[in-house]
Amino acid sequence: MVLKLKDTYLSDVISSSDYKAIEGDIKKAHDMLYAKSGPGSDFLGWTDLPVNYDKEEFARIQKAAKKIAGLCDIFVVIGIGGSYLGARAAIEFCKGANYNNLKKDTPDIYFTGNDISATNMSELLEICEGRDVCVNVISKSGTTTEPAIAFRIFRELLEKKYGKDGAKDRIFVTTDKCRGKLKELSDAEGYETFVVPDDVGGRYSVLTPVGLLPIAVAGIDIQEMMNGAADARSAYSECDIEKNDCYKYAAIRNILYRQGKSVEFFVSYESSLIMTAEWWKQLYGESEGKEGKGILPASVSFTTDLHSMGQFIQEGSRIMFETVIDLVNVERSVEIPYDEANSDGLNFLAGKDMHDVCRTAFKATAIAHTDGKTPNIILELERRGAYQFGYLVYFFELGCAISGYTLGINPFDQPGVEEYKKNMFALLGKPGADNEARRRELEAKL
Ligand code: PA5
Repeated sequence: MVLKLKDTYLSDVISSSDYKAIEGDIKKAHDMLYAKSGPGSDFLGWTDLPVNYDKEEFARIQKAAKKIAGLCDIFVVIGIGGSYLGARAAIEFCKGANYNNLKKDTPDIYFTGNDISATNMSELLEICEGRDVCVNVISKSGTTTEPAIAFRIFRELLEKKYGKDGAKDRIFVTTDKCRGKLKELSDAEGYETFVVPDDVGGRYSVLTPVGLLPIAVAGIDIQEMMNGAADARSAYSECDIEKNDCYKYAAIRNILYRQGKSVEFFVSYESSLIMTAEWWKQLYGESEGKEGKGILPASVSFTTDLHSMGQFIQEGSRIMFETVIDLVNVERSVEIPYDEANSDGLNFLAGKDMHDVCRTAFKATAIAHTDGKTPNIILELERRGAYQFGYLVYFFELGCAISGYTLGINPFDQPGVEEYKKNMFALLGKPGADNEARRRELEAKL
């Protein structure tokens, strides 16, 4: 068992007739996906990725990762959205949220180009001082402003430090196979490049070179990750809610949405899963939030957030449900010590492992929240690891596609993200008649 959906806490809100009622819609979504007849069907490359990927490029990624690990102390990964979240989620999922601070024989990895914060950039430049650096810039379009600014800064840094030729050896580019400014620049400068497949959108791209190169640099077995995704692909191929947990997840989400639950919290009890939640939020938010529809994806990390958001989830507006990752096994254990004086009154926990206490907190919370009318979907996850991450990625990607089609939207486009860019370019004075006209309109509103 890698991942198991448990509906133990849903019996009060979902009956067998609810499943029956939605079955037809799930079947339609399945048929559209596999016949490639639904909206966005040009972006279904991710469905076959785990079994159909470029093996030569995969080997080149593994080779580049070894080279990078030998060349640098700090590996700077530049990218935003789908060109950032998957890699960071995988590294923290497999290696822990404290990866950079743990003892290891792989480089520290820093992510930048995912905001326009002068403070973050300046701090990272300071961290890089006196240390050897390699860079992976990732942008499918090759034109996104945030990573483009960061790359300009790091290219200058590397060229000053190592000379143009030395920098060339330390810059790795992941972008479109033939289009975009980044591709043109890479060809002109002779950077090693990796390809973002045409038919895979950003938020579905973690198992392409977008995610795989940084993940491999962290010393994670990317072959195992692909194996996990491939096994999930066969485990979730049958269109039967009873047997297919991924389809059941898509069905439950839509049933709850139709009952008025418009917010879904991704809940985990481990810091190492916080970035997985961020990746999941982008996947579901950008896929489903359109045409005035969609479940708002949110996340909390328990037990930390039980002392903040817990109050709202227990007693606030009854608009949400939770999808809780119950991590069964952990690699590290810490026993709670016995204290003769028992001055803190904690001896009832002495000798117990912290993880067992954590899982008890999970059970107690699931019952409390369910009693408070926040339904809980439980996803029991065997353990953290490369294989399990690949498996989980495929589960959520397929679940998102089926859920999005069931909702009646195109889960593979993101027209809404262009609006802020148009305003920003206009206000920044980017040349062009359209920008100029928009700038005048916007300035009247400022
Ligand atoms: O999921 C998406 O498509 C987006 O989040 C993109 O990944 C993000 O905007 C970055 O785009 P690009 O890779 O073209 O720089």
